[in-house]
Amino acid sequence: MAVRRLAPEAIQPASFAFDAENLAWAKTVIARYPEGRQASAVIPLLWRAQEQHQYWLPKAAIEYVADMLGMAYIRVLEVATFYTMYNLEPVGRFFVQLCGTTPCRLRGADDLVKVCESRIGDQRHVTANGDFSWLEVECLGACCNAPMVQINNDYYEDLTAESFGKLLDDLAAGRPVKKGSQIGRTTSEPVGELTSLTDASLYDGSVVGAWRKRFDEEAAKAAAAADQAQAAEAKPAPQEAAAPIAVAPKRTRKKADKADPAKD
Ligand code: FES
Repeated sequence: MAVRRLAPEAIQPASFAFDAENLAWAKTVIARYPEGRQASAVIPLLWRAQEQHQYWLPKAAIEYVADMLGMAYIRVLEVATFYTMYNLEPVGRFFVQLCGTTPCRLRGADDLVKVCESRIGDQRHVTANGDFSWLEVECLGACCNAPMVQINNDYYEDLTAESFGKLLDDLAAGRPVKKGSQIGRTTSEPVGELTSLTDASLYDGSVVGAWRKRFDEEAAKAAAAADQAQAAEAKPAPQEAAAPIAVAPKRTRKKADKADPAKD
């Protein structure tokens, strides 16, 4: 990751302003946020400014967005220099971002770097005709189809030095190009034949059918148990045998007392 600085003063434009269409769009974006939270629109506004200005952000655009959102210039500069999606210096009409992270390296990114160096030059250099510039970046999330590059807004994957060279030729000549995998696979499916999920029952519905049967059986069992419990509740409970009533012995104390002459 290179240090991210603003482009030299010599190439900075004196001013920047949204055109009428972008200004109207910016107002609708800002209006999405509650009063006092307009700074939340900084990322989309910077992106739109970059799109309007040949895909790079001059200092004047950063300050323009800051003024529009009532933010300090330094706050917007922090955002613009933090996110690598913002280009701080001019880029080619076709801006190649070449993934140099491990999976792409292991699958031949070094060969693609050589193509860039021989055909475009050093990183950040824009070709004399303005067509190309390139930059090595970190993982772009298409590792399954390594090695790959992003050119402007599109991914080109499963590249070799040859297919990458041809891609650059076609772009420069304005010929149609194929986006995504260059070897014909759909998204990131395995190269060649399937190596996983090969058991047809996993996706033909038969496994789901077996589970459905089991769920139905379990549900039937539960319903039968519930019926049984309900029937048992509805039956009158058998009378309990009456407990014998205890009869208290008659008191005979007085007579006994009388019979005791010692008590008289
Ligand atoms: S490592 Fe290159 S896309 Fe992830």
